[in-house]
Amino acid sequence: MKGITLLLTYLVYCWNIDPIRANLPKVCLDDLSCVLGRYMSGYESYSFEAFLGIPFAKPPIGDLRFSNPEGAELWNGTLSAIYPKPDCVQRDYTKVSKPISGLEDCLYLNIYRPLHGAGGELPVMFYIHGGGFFAGSPSPKSFGPQYFMDTSDVILVVPAYRLGPFGFLSTNDEEMTGNYGLKDQKLALQWVNKYISAFGGDPDRITIFGHSAGASAVHLHLMNNNQEGLFSNAIMMSGTANSPFALPLSDPRGQVVKLAKAVGVREAEYLSSAGLVHALRSIKPKTLLRAVDDFKILAEQPAVIFRPNIEKDDWPGAFLKNDPIDPTIPLGTDIDIPWFIGNAPSKGEGLVIALRLTNNKKLREEFNENFNKSLNITLDLPLQCDNEEVIDTLVTEYMDGKHNLNDDTLNGFLELLGDAHFIYPTYRLLKYNLNSSRTDFKGIIHFDYRGPYSYSKIFTNSLNNFGTAHVDDSLFLFEGPRAVSKGYSKKSREAALVRRYVRLFQSFATNDYSDEFANIEKCNNSNFPNCEYLSIVKDEEPFKIGNTWNIERMRIWEKLYDSC
Ligand SMILES: *[C@@H]1O[C@H](CO)[C@@H](O)[C@H](O)[C@H]1NC(C)=O
Ligand SMILES: *[C@@H]1O[C@H](CO)[C@@H](O)[C@H](O)[C@H]1NC(C)=O
Ligand SMILES: *[C@@H]1O[C@H](CO)[C@@H](O)[C@H](O)[C@H]1NC(C)=O
Ligand SMILES: *[C@@H]1O[C@H](CO)[C@@H](O)[C@H](O)[C@H]1NC(C)=O
Ligand SMILES: *[C@@H]1O[C@H](CO)[C@@H](O)[C@H](O)[C@H]1NC(C)=O
Repeated sequence: MKGITLLLTYLVYCWNIDPIRANLPKVCLDDLSCVLGRYMSGYESYSFEAFLGIPFAKPPIGDLRFSNPEGAELWNGTLSAIYPKPDCVQRDYTKVSKPISGLEDCLYLNIYRPLHGAGGELPVMFYIHGGGFFAGSPSPKSFGPQYFMDTSDVILVVPAYRLGPFGFLSTNDEEMTGNYGLKDQKLALQWVNKYISAFGGDPDRITIFGHSAGASAVHLHLMNNNQEGLFSNAIMMSGTANSPFALPLSDPRGQVVKLAKAVGVREAEYLSSAGLVHALRSIKPKTLLRAVDDFKILAEQPAVIFRPNIEKDDWPGAFLKNDPIDPTIPLGTDIDIPWFIGNAPSKGEGLVIALRLTNNKKLREEFNENFNKSLNITLDLPLQCDNEEVIDTLVTEYMDGKHNLNDDTLNGFLELLGDAHFIYPTYRLLKYNLNSSRTDFKGIIHFDYRGPYSYSKIFTNSLNNFGTAHVDDSLFLFEGPRAVSKGYSKKSREAALVRRYVRLFQSFATNDYSDEFANIEKCNNSNFPNCEYLSIVKDEEPFKIGNTWNIERMRIWEKLYDSC
């Protein structure tokens, strides 16, 4: 058997010929509908099965653009799921050239399972990719499943979801409720609950996890209350729903009008919501995406234009009913959800907001011309009080009081952005939720291991070393993306870290727990923030117990949030 699989893998991979269909992995969802996958090569294991591009929703085109997703009917016969589908249409502002790519017809998911996985009931890991709600890809080229498949102990599912205006535009009424990207994720989760047992997955053990905006989305799924019990565990890496970049806009309808005007819809300000939606449905995706440039006030700032939206209870399919910034709204659900959370160091987190400001002289000059305003836009804080004073407090703390971005103040600037968008929101989420009896908090990860590859290459468009960057830990969970990583040599320290780090996630998905958290004095409501967590560092022993909160700085943020 192994020989045959080897031969097949060889044929499919090396000669790139059309797979010999009769021998490919096949799964039937019911009497009529089957899906034909392919074998892929593992990293250390020999091979595993992939089912790529399975439709979970009707294509969100025509009248379904700016509508809640609708479940796709199963097909009749055998669906070929051998190649990944194009990404959801997007303009990727994290890249210098801001490429537009993808298609509107994109609501597909990818499933990976170990060989012969259909025999047992494996835990399922459902990964929500990041990209600021405007970019990103579920493709195996971006998030290679090889490391997880090496464990032989999980099924991995990676869905696409609508991005940018297609996923998050809202007139703030029933005509266009918004949150389509999140509702797509939820529909994909419902699909997984319904059909994953056919693939050998256990629908009672589904862990949702994500990085960056994908982690914010995980938080939003927790806030959505999970009444259907769609998942049983949650992991948020470098992102929360209360992060400034993810917070709902105060005037989503104004944004729709502005976008409509930018694409040439006449008298947009006088149109009803229905009229706006109708007009915007006829605009080509590329035209809509180019018009988003009009919302960028300064270079790529503000970083995230289209956001989750707070919906009214009685809107159809309402997903988010509370403001994530509200401290009285507990994270969590009516059932106990074990969860853990993590971050990179604040400086590295800041890189994804600063992007080319990190080393582009011209952009910096532009920034400094109107420093207070530029910083205000970049921080994007949800504070109502006098912003000059807030800016002053922060510049004093982080930039030595210098209202200027230059080589001397750069580190502090990056730490400021990292604390504003990532570290303080994590701290705040913990502070207000360790008291919640409805969640089962397992631990915090501080990930500060910079290997040979780093996302800073994309964020800063340079090879400069800024230490561990935002979502660099994902390079130890997934192969790729090709622009960043070329793969670790099997005997390297990085390969060893991959094994251990992937195990941590996989064991949590398997039994709600990871031994790596065993000897840590966990944060709880009486010891916070003087508690311990898991620090993953580049050292002889990479897994250490630590506490790197800069508590003084966190208190400054608390004071600002409380007084504004
Ligand atoms: C599949 O076939 C059944 C009858 O055999 C039919 O009712 C159904 O509409 C078909 N579905 C699709 C998607 O073609
Ligand atoms: C900062 O930006 C907010 C909007 O994000 C605005 O309301 C406020 O007036 C700005 N403050 C300053 C000092 O520019
Ligand atoms: C920015 O704010 C600081 C502190 O409030 C102030 O001293 C400075 O004059 C302001 N700069 C500009 C250009 O407004
Ligand atoms: C959490 O509970 C502890 C003990 O009951 C209390 O002292 C603390 O103020 C609470 N924290 C919050 C944020 O409610
Ligand atoms: C909180 O954690 C400390 C250890 O840091 C432990 O001694 C204490 O019992 C815990 N308190 C609660 C309420 O769980």
